[in-house]
Amino acid sequence: MNDLVRLVSPNFSDLFEPNMEIGKFPDGDTHVRIPSLAACKDHEVAIFHRLYPNQNDCLVELLLIMDAVRYQGAKKITVVSPYLPYARQDKQTIGGEIASAHVVCNILAGAGCDRFVTFDCHFLNEEGQIKHGNLNIINISMSKPLIDQARKLFEGQNFEIIGPDDGAAYLVKDSGGSHLKKVRKDYDGDKIAYRHIDTMEGEFDVKDKNVLLVDDMISTGNTMIQALDKMMDAGAKKVICAATHGLFLYNCLDRLRKRSDHIFATDSIISPQSSVSIKSRLEELFNPQNKLF
Ligand code: R5P
Repeated sequence: MNDLVRLVSPNFSDLFEPNMEIGKFPDGDTHVRIPSLAACKDHEVAIFHRLYPNQNDCLVELLLIMDAVRYQGAKKITVVSPYLPYARQDKQTIGGEIASAHVVCNILAGAGCDRFVTFDCHFLNEEGQIKHGNLNIINISMSKPLIDQARKLFEGQNFEIIGPDDGAAYLVKDSGGSHLKKVRKDYDGDKIAYRHIDTMEGEFDVKDKNVLLVDDMISTGNTMIQALDKMMDAGAKKVICAATHGLFLYNCLDRLRKRSDHIFATDSIISPQSSVSIKSRLEELFNPQNKLF
């Protein structure tokens, strides 16, 4: 639709020209300026704003932007945030724990987000339009572009495609891949809320074969490292690791590099490993022939 107004945050400047200014007041409060705010009146508005890194700041920035756009009289607000923070906290595993994924989704919907476009959202297991809490999510999968990139890296040689856990099943199923089963332990009481991996098991025959390990995200890297160790123990020839979202916490890249032949991710989160871009999937989505807009 021609009357779509695009608002692009500075944290999206690698993919699109930014037209909003985001900074801080001296005390740390967030300052946002949208020079073209008046143009939002009676228009559909798409807000391109990443929510990671600095997820809490980024969420407040988005709330401020959405409120201003809604108050200005926008017809419909679509938010594009490639990685949804808090998505891993979608279940309560111990009493009193807050399932923050639901809270974040409801806050975004309540602030006026009519549609939220994201990629390989952790708590979803399919591509498409799905409602979570009050939020209408459009979940786009990067599994095909990741697998296509691996095909180039393996230079025409065959490779097995394996997901390290149940959550990765939907990423590998269309390409005939398989997935392992991962069970996490309880929280161990540290200040950092984290559940270590207890077991990772599955049926696979990778002896003398190339393997692509693919997951929705690499965060601490523990999942990928455990899966890598399993592949190496089983005699895999060459192993490449791929994920939609590369957070690469605690210098896990160094540990991954020691064990694998290559690691790559998309630019949903910008990192030196971002060799596959989400841009063309976004352009497809925003193509006027696509009935979405
Ligand atoms: C499921 O748990 C997810 O699909 C990922 O496997 C997980 O979030 C990766 O986290 P980490 O890198 O900390 O093991």
